[in-house]
Amino acid sequence: MNPRISIVIPTYNEVENIGALLEELRSILGSSGIEDYEVIVVDDDSPDGTWRVVERISREDSRVRLIRRVGVKGLGTAIVRGLNEARGDYVVVMDADFQHPPSLIPRLLDTAAKLGADVVVASRYARGGGFSGWGLARRVVSLGALLLAWILVPESRGTRDPISGFFLINRKTVSLKGVKGLGYKVLLEVLALNPGVRVLEVPYIFKPRRAGSSKLGVDDLILYLVQILTVSSMARFALVGITGIPVNLGVMALALGIGAPVDVASLSGIEASIAWNYIWHELWTFKTTFTGGLEGVIRRYLGYHISVALGVLTQYATMRLLYTLLGLNPLIGQLAGIILGFLVNYTLSREKVWNLSHRSGY
Ligand code: GDD
Ligand code: MN
Repeated sequence: MNPRISIVIPTYNEVENIGALLEELRSILGSSGIEDYEVIVVDDDSPDGTWRVVERISREDSRVRLIRRVGVKGLGTAIVRGLNEARGDYVVVMDADFQHPPSLIPRLLDTAAKLGADVVVASRYARGGGFSGWGLARRVVSLGALLLAWILVPESRGTRDPISGFFLINRKTVSLKGVKGLGYKVLLEVLALNPGVRVLEVPYIFKPRRAGSSKLGVDDLILYLVQILTVSSMARFALVGITGIPVNLGVMALALGIGAPVDVASLSGIEASIAWNYIWHELWTFKTTFTGGLEGVIRRYLGYHISVALGVLTQYATMRLLYTLLGLNPLIGQLAGIILGFLVNYTLSREKVWNLSHRSGY
């Protein structure tokens, strides 16, 4: 029999916290009538012996499971390992240091079960949520990370806190296939791979650590940047667009070389770059790999032409507007147009052309 809920807790040197947390989980879940649960602690062979404490507790309480990873380290991959081991209908991910209040779990579960959410985010940025004991520097870093996520990963905009480390997932409706834990913001990967899911949030106050110290450093922040670029379909879309430029010019040069008229050569270059971009958007940007047979491919190929055309039109209109109405330099107008046109093309492509609710990877 599978439990109703799995709670995944990654740990590294949390010997002072883990025992108390497991105890508190037991009493809170018990008093909310949730007996049917499992706790999965994923420990990376902590030198302080965190895993030993968990091992001892798991001998008395079979609902507590220990996964001790030896020779591997990393918060992201530890969480993913826990997610893959989870058997519950719902799975919650939380930290071991009491910065994520265990008392919130029944509300997360209720929100998913009663309101039918696929993902419930414990959110510091929702009304009523916040931080206690955070200095200006940490707030600014957090806000920067948040803005970056919102800009580059549009699939994350369904919640105000897509970089939260405390969240619940409905395992039946959310696909975890392809979630790798490249960096420590696993929720971001989940959201990027499941663009169609219903996301709700529950506010909470991120409290100071109860004992011990943070394990995350500057290298993790850099890893976060890598992670965000990897999961960002917008970044991939832009990169593909750039590779289309030499294709465009190359085909045009070729056509001119065999004596085609300039108009024909130019249009051939444009069409070739659209076809080139289309293939890479199928294979890489949106990972749809030509699904839906010939009909699906034709529908998306034509749809993509419309996105591109509207993007170009936006470009031109922006330039005209800025130049004619505001008297700006037309090159500056054109540059603003390129950015706006890109956004129009990308957004239409993502929302209308490649609008699948699950993606097979990023
Ligand atoms: N297994 C494993 N391996 N666990 C780890 C590792 C690791 O390499 N590094 C950290 N952990 C565990 C910690 O033991 C703790 O339970 C949890 O992951 C969070 O680590 P902290 O070191 O407490 O991170 P933090 O408080 O700085 O960051 C938290 O808040 C951020 C929001 O500002 C995390 O929840 C982040 O995911 C979150 O984005
Ligand atoms: Mn912490």
